[in-house]
Amino acid sequence: MGEAPTGPVLEVKDLRTHLFTSRGVGRAVDGVSFALRRGETLGLVGESGSGKSLTCLSLLRLNPQPASRIVGGAVLYEGTDLLAKTDEEMRRYRGKRIALVLQDPMTALNPVFTVGNQIFEAIRLHQGARGSRLRKIAAEMMRLLRIPDPEQRLGDYPHQFSGGMRQRAVGAIALSGKPSVLIADEPTTALDVTIQAAYLEVLKEIQRRERLAILFVTHDFAVVARMCDRVAVMYAGKIVETADTWRLFDDPRHPYTVALLRSVPDVEARIERLYAIEGQPPSVFEPAKGCAFAARCPHAEARCHDEPPPDVPLEGGRAVRCWLFVR
Ligand SMILES: Nc1ncnc2c1ncn2[C@@H]1O[C@H](COP(=O)(O)OP(=O)(O)OP(=O)(O)O)[C@@H](O)[C@H]1O
Ligand SMILES: [Mg+2]
Repeated sequence: MGEAPTGPVLEVKDLRTHLFTSRGVGRAVDGVSFALRRGETLGLVGESGSGKSLTCLSLLRLNPQPASRIVGGAVLYEGTDLLAKTDEEMRRYRGKRIALVLQDPMTALNPVFTVGNQIFEAIRLHQGARGSRLRKIAAEMMRLLRIPDPEQRLGDYPHQFSGGMRQRAVGAIALSGKPSVLIADEPTTALDVTIQAAYLEVLKEIQRRERLAILFVTHDFAVVARMCDRVAVMYAGKIVETADTWRLFDDPRHPYTVALLRSVPDVEARIERLYAIEGQPPSVFEPAKGCAFAARCPHAEARCHDEPPPDVPLEGGRAVRCWLFVR
């Protein structure tokens, strides 16, 4: 611990997860690539249905089956491809090295067991702790996640917890395996603003301590600004732009990112302005021949409709998947 990070802890290369339904094959995740380093938070943003959740689930091979199947790519955890692991081997990565937190904390907690029971169980499972050591770790976890009166509250059932406390309990369970990667899929959407802010602060504190790498899915650009070092913008199953957070806000390059940022209501304006992005998102079952955004893009040229654009590296480590940047 303490030494400079070497390679990325998680590297995703050309991940493709397709849907297999009566409507045909849907390219829901269609060539997603990104790298995540220790101690870093990468935001994943994009319209509803762009494939963010399916990407998160696929990383742990928890994508819904048989509705979807990972058909290609690689998910490298410290250089080892998780897609080549057996189901049994895969179980040793879930929770232990890569943890997943989902939007609704109620679905992650079992209503018939006390919260304490579920946290103890997670610590026992992941760290093999028992007896007084188990209690010590659990108490430390509660303190970190700022659950008040832990001794007393551990005996409560999930429905006796407030939404914010439930989400923190789920966080405690997720972090009990001391993972090096946390995948958080809209973890604060169900929380009110103050509780959300407190939760995010705790998460950042734990991240600093443990050099946790976080993939953070959100619709909320205020959360992106607060939490993320870099942002990946997803559209129709592909990442169309990646940049440092400040560069993305300051100077978005992909026409979709520009439209997405413009669709955010201006919190400072007296009248709430809400720009909708013109046109419909494409159907995953009818992939475009060229760029998936071309039909809605104000700058689209002939080739945009005919050929898929390449991923173009730009200055400052950013990249954009758009013909406008090909010289
Ligand atoms: N179990 C499933 N069966 C069939 N289709 C699915 C299933 N899960 C997701 N999909 C489809 O896969 C595509 C990607 O969905 P996904 O949930 O990843 O989107 P998302 O970007 O997370 O959206 P949101 O912002 O609304 O959470 C969508 O077209 C969705 O309808
Ligand atoms: Mg989702």
